[in-house]
Amino acid sequence: MAVIAIYSAKGGVGKTTVAANLAWCAATISCRRTLLWDLDLAGGAGFLFGVEPGRKPASALYSQDLSPEKLITRTAYDRLDLLPADDSLRDLNSVFARLGKRKQLRKLTQSLAKRYERIILDCPPALGEISAQVMRAADLVIVPLPPSPLSARAFDLVVREIKAHAKVHPPILPVLSMLDLRRNLHKQAQEANPGWPAIPYASVVEQCAVRHQPVGAFAPASPAARGFAQLWTAIERKLAAL
Ligand SMILES: Nc1ncnc2c1ncn2[C@@H]1O[C@H](COP(=O)(O)OP(=O)(O)O)[C@@H](O)[C@H]1O
Ligand SMILES: [Mg+2]
Repeated sequence: MAVIAIYSAKGGVGKTTVAANLAWCAATISCRRTLLWDLDLAGGAGFLFGVEPGRKPASALYSQDLSPEKLITRTAYDRLDLLPADDSLRDLNSVFARLGKRKQLRKLTQSLAKRYERIILDCPPALGEISAQVMRAADLVIVPLPPSPLSARAFDLVVREIKAHAKVHPPILPVLSMLDLRRNLHKQAQEANPGWPAIPYASVVEQCAVRHQPVGAFAPASPAARGFAQLWTAIERKLAAL
């Protein structure tokens, strides 16, 4: 079992979009038993799959040692389950801090190692105890970055933030999350970081939220679907080399 965190301290950079589409790739392209684990109170991952928050508050996982199995629901796709988030995660930083268990999230994800082969964490744009828990739980961290002349600097900042909160951390992989090659600055950002995977900026990606489906399910031949599939292949390759 491998845990892949989609992380940034910033909101609106494409974390949830990348997490939901990669989870679909893991389950459908790689045929992995996959769990998409939503840690953001906004609940975007569930929304993208048309899954409602569960009946039990999600914070009970961390504060009352509720088994994650009690919250997990199925999605419309084979092998792909979801652990939804809700408003109870508003105080997650302090819940973790009060709990005082450094590896609580790791313990919870590892408790599912028999049931799932891949767990994708959709992270909230938060630092502190949440990111420290995420770094201890994850085998690989994906950082979505909107393309700009400052992309490399923005990535360095995220890496520095991660290092500030976690002495040891897993490999961190940058991804240009909304690449529009009609724009000069985007083109320059890609040329400046040739090794970075990229997801094209595309209206089919925005439509995920309207259709409540990942791109691969309704536009499998689109450049965006291919971008997510290629990114997923790169992740599998990286995991195999760990
Ligand atoms: N590749 C893309 N092309 C077009 N729109 C995108 C793309 N990636 C993300 N978006 C849009 O950007 C917005 C923010 O994305 P989201 O995944 O919610 O970011 P985060 O989880 O980091 O806050 C959403 O409206 C989403 O539809
Ligand atoms: Mg999000």
